[in-house]
Amino acid sequence: MTESSTAAPPAAPPADDRPYSPGLEGVIAGETSLSKVDGERGRLIYRGYRIGDLVERGTYPAVANLLWTGEWDPSHRLATARIPDAVMTVLRTLPASTKPMDALRTAVSAWGAVNDLPWPPTDEQARALTSFSPSALAAFARLRAGLEPVEPDPSLDLVEGFLYQLKGERPDAGTARALDAYFIVGAEHGFNASTFTARVITSTRSDIASAVAGAIGTMKGPLHGGAPSEVVDQLSQVGSPEHAEEWLRGALARGERLMGFGHRVYRAYDPRAAALRKVAESMEHKPEWLELAIQVEDVALRVLAEKHPERALKTNVEYYAAPVLQGVGLTPDLFPATFSLARHAGWTAHVLEQSADNRLIRPDVRYVGPAERDLPS
Ligand code: ACO
Repeated sequence: MTESSTAAPPAAPPADDRPYSPGLEGVIAGETSLSKVDGERGRLIYRGYRIGDLVERGTYPAVANLLWTGEWDPSHRLATARIPDAVMTVLRTLPASTKPMDALRTAVSAWGAVNDLPWPPTDEQARALTSFSPSALAAFARLRAGLEPVEPDPSLDLVEGFLYQLKGERPDAGTARALDAYFIVGAEHGFNASTFTARVITSTRSDIASAVAGAIGTMKGPLHGGAPSEVVDQLSQVGSPEHAEEWLRGALARGERLMGFGHRVYRAYDPRAAALRKVAESMEHKPEWLELAIQVEDVALRVLAEKHPERALKTNVEYYAAPVLQGVGLTPDLFPATFSLARHAGWTAHVLEQSADNRLIRPDVRYVGPAERDLPS
């Protein structure tokens, strides 16, 4: 023991007046060449390319490859992968009541346990994990419904393959394309909470599966990835355009948040919401409440502007993710896990970027507890 328990406490240290930003808002905590989120102007680019152009002219595998390698190859393909037997055994033991995010996190963790994932992480590891997870989520969704999992079809691209393994039949081209667009807009988004988690885990030289499992746990929170299913709930409570204003004002008066609005970074309209609104409107099988959502959006933006004139609260990606996800036939409880599948490209690209120029992420904290003191005798 180096400190005597009877020694008088030293003089109080000087006050810690280093700058502190709650929630790390506005703090630069790293550098990336993967994406730029321009919240003031409502712009988003992946390696320089505009999100709207990527949605119109790209596919999810091409975008994932762009994030991993920096190369734009629109013909790049990536199929879903087979589930290792040990992971399938784990999935079979989960109760049907397991939340899909918990099932996906567990599957990724089990995948990490059966794969050798040496440091540093590689493109191959990123591809393998990104192509494994859709199979795992689809298998879990079938098992909980009492159905047998469907083997991957290597002739299908990742998003089409996911829908095939989920439903047991090939989706039509429009449905696959709509979900692919959703995967593109969900692929990457700067230093959001789950990506930051993945980078912190990677910075300790832990493996890519641990980083992605941690990221899934972070995305599980409703302030990050849980909003689209709540958008559906809120719209069903609103019921009709005539009730929108009264319902929205009531919700704000009760201190509730309007799901699908507001963002830590965007002060302008989220460009991903704009891209997904176009996709939703052009879908063949759109949910019947899409028109209601469009009308409610206008009212919500108006009442939010009145309630919070100091902070621009605009539509975020989750608002129009809801009709796209429902339109392609996913149940709302699968929305957050599907968002996680899409974000695999970004998470794993950040894992690669972090490991390529690694420094342990270990910030400091301001102590606000009692001054040093003696234990009561
Ligand atoms: N509805 C009502 N009020 C809101 C909303 C909202 N959607 N968003 C923010 N506000 C209010 C807050 O209550 C707060 O007001 P106060 O200062 O009077 O308490 C003020 O605006 C600032 O809000 P913060 O919580 O400081 O903003 P923060 O940057 O932390 O939050 C967040 C961002 C979590 C997304 C928030 O806007 C929210 O909860 N939105 C609803 C949930 C949602 O849509 N989540 C998906 C986000 S997109 C994504 O993660 C992919």
